[in-house]
Amino acid sequence: MAVAAASRHGGTCEIADRIAVTLAAELSDGWSVTRTDLRDLRALDDVDAVVLGSAVYYSHWMHAAGRALRYVKDAPLLDLWLFSTGPISEVDSADAQVPSADAMVADGLAVEHQVFGGRLDTSLLNWAERAAVKAVHALPGDHRDWDQVDDWAKHIAAQLSQVPTRGSVARSSGR
Ligand SMILES: Cc1cc2nc3c(=O)[nH]c(=O)nc-3n(C[C@H](O)[C@H](O)[C@H](O)COP(=O)(O)O)c2cc1C
Repeated sequence: MAVAAASRHGGTCEIADRIAVTLAAELSDGWSVTRTDLRDLRALDDVDAVVLGSAVYYSHWMHAAGRALRYVKDAPLLDLWLFSTGPISEVDSADAQVPSADAMVADGLAVEHQVFGGRLDTSLLNWAERAAVKAVHALPGDHRDWDQVDDWAKHIAAQLSQVPTRGSVARSSGR
C-alpha cells in the first residue's frame, strides 16, 4: 500500500510519514507500506490501498493532491483513505471540510476522510499568507495531535487486516 501527501510547509508530509510508520508496524507481514512522492503518480499503480492527504489552503486541497485524487479514483480494486490538515483556529475549522474529499466518501469512492489539526509557522509565510491567516484569526503553532494520527493509522490497519483481499473494505455505498 502507498501513503502520499501534498504539503507546502512540510507539516502534512510529517503526518503522512507518521501514518506510514504506524501502518508498517501494525500491518501483518503480507503488506508492504510505501511512502510515495506525488511527483510520479505511477507509484500509485498496482497498489492494494492508498492513504492520500493534503494540506488545506483557502478551503481547497493542494493541486498535487487533487491531481492524485483524480488519478486513483477510477483505479480498479483500490481502497482509498483521505486526510486533510488545516484547522489552526476555532474560526478556521469550519473551512476544514473539503467538499471533494467528503463527496468521495459519500459516493463510495473512498473509505473515510479524516481531518487533522495543522501547523502554522508564521516565520515560513510570505506577506500575503500572513495577511490571510490574520484575517481568519488563526493561532500560530503546532496543532497536530499525534495520538489522533496514530489512532487513525491503527484503525486503517485494523480494517485492512480484517479483509486481506484487494479493494474489499466496506464503503458507505457501492461502486
Ligand atoms: C495562507 C494560508 C491559508 C490557509 N487556509 C486554510 C483553510 O482554508 N482551511 C484550513 O483549515 N486551514 C488553512 N490553513 C492552515 C494550513 O492548512 C495548515 O497550516 C497546514 O497544517 C499546513 O500544512 P503544510 O505545512 O503541510 O503546508 C491555511 C494556512 C495558510 C498559511
